Amino acid sequence: MLKIENLHVYYGGIHALQGIDLEVPDGKIISLIGANGAGKSTTLKAIMSLVQKTQGNLEFDGVNITKLETRAVVKTGIVLCPEGRRVFPDLTVSENLTIGAYLRKDKDGIRKDKEWVYELFPRMKEREWQAAGTLSGGEQQMLAVGRALMARPKLLMLDEPSLGLAPLVIKDIFSIIKEINNAGVNILLIEQNAKAALEIADYAYVMETGLITLSGPGKEILANDQVRKAYLGE
Ligand SMILES: Nc1ncnc2c1ncn2[C@@H]1O[C@H](COP(=O)(O)OP(=O)(O)O)[C@@H](O)[C@H]1O
Ligand SMILES: [Mg+2]
Repeated sequence: MLKIENLHVYYGGIHALQGIDLEVPDGKIISLIGANGAGKSTTLKAIMSLVQKTQGNLEFDGVNITKLETRAVVKTGIVLCPEGRRVFPDLTVSENLTIGAYLRKDKDGIRKDKEWVYELFPRMKEREWQAAGTLSGGEQQMLAVGRALMARPKLLMLDEPSLGLAPLVIKDIFSIIKEINNAGVNILLIEQNAKAALEIADYAYVMETGLITLSGPGKEILANDQVRKAYLGE
């Protein structure tokens, strides 16, 4: 499990994270929702040591990861599927997936995981030899998730997987996220699409300008009046 205590991040004079406490217990899907600019991506970047923390303690699976470099964080089993997909456009689907396994040496395991990704996303199998840049937005998102899975994460962190996608595609992606979780991968999901993220979450956190303002079981947060007004447009 991941445990974050009192996490602070500054960008110059901007106090982007002002003391975040958050936990991702084993076996669960945890969602972090909040408006644009709240600090969601910064939270994930701080976990990955992609931005500097000024304060805080982070523990994963009993290991203190607060001061680890990004590569060492990945080695503990935490993988980030970043915002905006960022697949390699000139490489094929298959090559993009292979790159996801760059830190692994177990050839058999890599082959099996690629088959698993193709089972999760049959459309990726059909397009195995297609250049990733020619895929639709939804397909590129599937590929980005598949590539993250190729690192065989214990914790998969997804930054706004639904951004810019059509409702039906979003539904597909969220049902596959559930399936990935059922296969034993813990999930930390960041979303502006509050409804979909809360429906799928075992537990959820609401973030406003660098602070967690509310947390609870996904269904409770979904039923909360303030959340319905602020994030679900009711
Ligand atoms: N590289 C950066 N330099 C300066 N400010 C940044 C940088 N990245 C993010 N910020 C600021 O930090 C705050 C949180 O941003 P971010 O974590 O990206 O929010 P979210 O993902 O919730 O939309 C925002 O005010 C944003 O403008
Ligand atoms: Mg963001």
